[in-house]
Amino acid sequence: FIRNASQLVTLAGSSTAPLVKEKMNELHIIENGSVWVEDGKIAAVGTDEELSQQFQERIAEAEIVDATGKTVTPGLVDPHTHFVYAGSRESEFAMRLSGATYMEIMNAGGGIHATTKATREASKETLYEESKRRLDQFLLHGVTTVEAKSGYGLSLEHEVKQLTVAKQLDENHPVDVVSTFMGAHAVPAEWKDNPDGFVRVIVEEMIPKVSELGLAEFNDVFCERGVFTPEQARIILEAGKAYGLMPKIHADEIEPYGGAELAAEVGAVSADHLLRASDEGIRRMAEKGVIAVLLPGTAFFLMTKAANARKIIDAGAAVALSTDCNPGSSPTVSLPLIMNLGCLQMGMTPAEALAAVTINAAHAINRGHEIGSIEVGKKADLVLFDVPNYMQLIYHYGMNHTDTVVKNGRVVVK
Ligand code: NIG
Ligand code: FE
Repeated sequence: FIRNASQLVTLAGSSTAPLVKEKMNELHIIENGSVWVEDGKIAAVGTDEELSQQFQERIAEAEIVDATGKTVTPGLVDPHTHFVYAGSRESEFAMRLSGATYMEIMNAGGGIHATTKATREASKETLYEESKRRLDQFLLHGVTTVEAKSGYGLSLEHEVKQLTVAKQLDENHPVDVVSTFMGAHAVPAEWKDNPDGFVRVIVEEMIPKVSELGLAEFNDVFCERGVFTPEQARIILEAGKAYGLMPKIHADEIEPYGGAELAAEVGAVSADHLLRASDEGIRRMAEKGVIAVLLPGTAFFLMTKAANARKIIDAGAAVALSTDCNPGSSPTVSLPLIMNLGCLQMGMTPAEALAAVTINAAHAINRGHEIGSIEVGKKADLVLFDVPNYMQLIYHYGMNHTDTVVKNGRVVVK
């Protein structure tokens, strides 16, 4: 029985479709709010007065979590990460600070290629241990579900290794891990002179195998000049669809490249990044219901102008926010920090930012029906933040206010 939150932010009422436009500001907050949990699911939601009446006879036997003075939200959902990897890339930080760009470093064999080398060389056990540490940190920051992409293997063997580790973490760790196959994260060195040959390997070998082994739900492509063209991305995403993998796309991050348009055309669940997406691309995404997953931490860390969330929301596309947690362009696990950047750098309201890391983030990984809001029947994934209102959570930046995390009805952080 989670009792008497000063603000219980439920985000109720949008389990079948993400929140768009003005609706993103409707958080459905209950003051002095309480939640009754049973068998890992939310059984009742209301004021403390209502629920203590309703469950009068059972309170004595219940485990009580006192939320007095605290803000309770749905467990945060991070819908775009690359947290399963080995090694680290802080050496690139100095290079970027002296003027090298992210793409220059990658084209010189660093960036994604450096992490691919480290991930290929790592044993499954090492990869598990290094990634588990990051997953622990996600949980300590209030995240209860995280999407994880492959794409540091870039060969059948190592992509399968990376996805297998993600699956083991999902099974063993309190945080739920939802997997995305991203064999098309970069063209590895051995295919440098024949990128179409690598696309064929992805389409003919990797996608069928990943699908057969049940290792992923989504299929993602880094569609950017010098990485994968929109034509190659279309082939890869359509191939995934034929094997039941839902399309996602890293779109228009560095320059306008038709990624948002392609996302609408293939019916992607989400298009992510979108810093340089065209107005027409955004319009088509809104029309087709493609969710815009925006990553202001990446823009911040790469010292570039963030996506225009204000414009995207006003155009009618649903917006979700994510850390993009990865070793090169966004080494963080903090969604509260990302919400702050969403407001300061992308023109979002605090309410929109919170909707973007809960219910809309859940929809961005096809989980809107079971997580992302505090409603009867959903998983009892809840976070108590040690602040009296949700605004403070977003206003204080670079701070971790996570107090208690409840996952599937169990207190896993206290
Ligand atoms: O989303 N843009 C491509 N992929 C990741 C970065 C991966 C890396 O640098 O290791 C991203 O920013
Ligand atoms: Fe990414």
